[in-house]
Amino acid sequence: MSNALKEYLSICQTRVELALEDRLPSEHVLPKKLHQAMRYCVLDGGKRMRPMLTYCAGQTLGIAPELLDAPACAVEFIHVYSLIHDDLPAMDDDNLRRGKPTCHIAFDEATAILTGDALQTLAFEILAHDPSISASPENRLKMITVLAKASGSQGMVGGQAIDLESVGTQITLPELENMHIHKTGALIRASVNMAALATSDIDPVLASKLDHYAKCIGLSFQVKDDILDVESDTATLGKTQGKDSNNDKPTYPALLGMTGAKQKALELHEKALDCLKVFGNEADLLRDLSLYIIQRDH
Ligand code: IPE
Ligand code: IPE
Ligand code: MG
Ligand code: MG
Ligand code: MG
Repeated sequence: MSNALKEYLSICQTRVELALEDRLPSEHVLPKKLHQAMRYCVLDGGKRMRPMLTYCAGQTLGIAPELLDAPACAVEFIHVYSLIHDDLPAMDDDNLRRGKPTCHIAFDEATAILTGDALQTLAFEILAHDPSISASPENRLKMITVLAKASGSQGMVGGQAIDLESVGTQITLPELENMHIHKTGALIRASVNMAALATSDIDPVLASKLDHYAKCIGLSFQVKDDILDVESDTATLGKTQGKDSNNDKPTYPALLGMTGAKQKALELHEKALDCLKVFGNEADLLRDLSLYIIQRDH
């Protein structure tokens, strides 16, 4: 990772931890178990890649981080909810997440379902209500629409449905790409696109270039996730290595082989860089982030 990106991510990390903490109900507020579970799952863990993308895209467009805390938190809350439900016995049945027992193991299954539900609605409450958003009412509404579409049956949830239907079946490469674009790409795209809505005067051409960039890295992110499931180890990942083949999931390494999957990740990174050609140095963090996504070890 470049030094510039390392420094920027560490500043953002501190910022997003405080912003998330601030927006979660205290564990002393009733119902205590639910609020404890929400805090357990959200705080102290994860790469925070989606909030980072919101801040980095905002920085590229000259938008102050103070105006981005709410969308950054909203997308992370949706992401954490998706992880909690993804780990349930009815889905991937995982017992380790972010180096800790998954929500249904640390608490119980019903609490894990409700924790996901509560985080999802909290995300939209924040976008609708958070005073740190200074965007016009029209743009605020657009942010809500962007995140809702990216989360729902034609976004992440739809991708998860395809993922579950595909278990044990032979799917084609375009079908695999479609599944990944939905289950993972959609929220990553929303992270970037919400930044462009935080002020009203963003050049639509630049916003569209960023959207294309986000599409590329959204897919490369899941390609790399599939690769890491094969090549990394449980301690580094903070989640159980080898689950995809154990669960008979279609993945990029399974369809293209490891060399093909890595080649695909690299091609997507190069495409992502192409989308940023209209920008100067102000997009360097996004360039570095795209490379980090395909080079990361967890
Ligand atoms: C894991 O996402 C699930 C996918 C969508 C691939 P991350 O790799 O971003 O998980 P955390 O947030 O760092 O735990
Ligand atoms: C999950 O994909 C995508 C989500 C919407 C959560 P995976 O099932 O591959 O994510 P991990 O590997 O469990 O983090
Ligand atoms: Mg899954
Ligand atoms: Mg999973
Ligand atoms: Mg995975």
